[in-house]
Amino acid sequence: MKIITKIEEIKNHIHRLKNENHIISFIPTMGNLHNGHLSLIKKSQSIVSKKIVSIFINPLQFNNTKDFDAYPRKIDKDIECLKTQNIDCLFLPDENILDDLPIIDTLPDGFTKILCGKYRPNHFIGVYKIVLRLFNIISPDYVFFGEKDYQQLLLIKFLIQKNKLNIKINECETIRDLNGLALSSRNNLLTQNQKKIASSIYKLMQEYTMKSNIKHQILSYFEDKIDKLIETEYCEVIETKDLYDIHGLDIIDSDINFKYRLFYAGYISGVRLIDNLSFN
Ligand code: PAF
Repeated sequence: MKIITKIEEIKNHIHRLKNENHIISFIPTMGNLHNGHLSLIKKSQSIVSKKIVSIFINPLQFNNTKDFDAYPRKIDKDIECLKTQNIDCLFLPDENILDDLPIIDTLPDGFTKILCGKYRPNHFIGVYKIVLRLFNIISPDYVFFGEKDYQQLLLIKFLIQKNKLNIKINECETIRDLNGLALSSRNNLLTQNQKKIASSIYKLMQEYTMKSNIKHQILSYFEDKIDKLIETEYCEVIETKDLYDIHGLDIIDSDINFKYRLFYAGYISGVRLIDNLSFN
């Protein structure tokens, strides 16, 4: 596995690969790799292509420096892990990547007025800028994003549509631990006991989505039942077609396998947890 840190160097490398008619699969990450990332890499293995992984902890998408500083960093371990994954190249840019960012002032309402977009001002603008910058450098044919960060997935679809990029996005299902807690780099900041408590979120989500007759009482349902150590930020059910509409996206048939999606965000000991689940 090559490790490239310079933008010009990775561009030349990609240029060579494209000249040799290779297809490029790209998995952007912020490191501290876990089985969720490995499932994205595994999915990319089903496409005959050169796999490029990037690790860059993007300061623009954090709402405060405390959260940015606390974000787990495990670069040596990540490199060892990637070496076993048949990756062609790890792109490890430095802060210079922030010098020449695309300009974007506004996003559709969904990314600023609901769910994480509402509670994390400028988060999605920060993700948009870095991902578009990375896409412009790597020129991937295929990209891989997890359903756990569902609004981010919608953002990447929006970015591809808006910039008319010839990129196919692969949506990968959420990977969970044995208790059902959605895997996230932030889980490293939790104790075993906190992880167990955090897994009650998924159990409640499952319970709720099985009782379709109570859809309108979502928030009070969670407020009554959720562990007292978890502080709910939002908890909402949104119809798939409304979700696409408010995020400025054209909906296609394969997007509507499920009529609704339940979204949850909360904090346990200051650590942010998000999850979502589709249902009919
Ligand atoms: O999902 C992430 O890890 C990040 O938001 C991403 C897509 C790598 C952009 O920094």
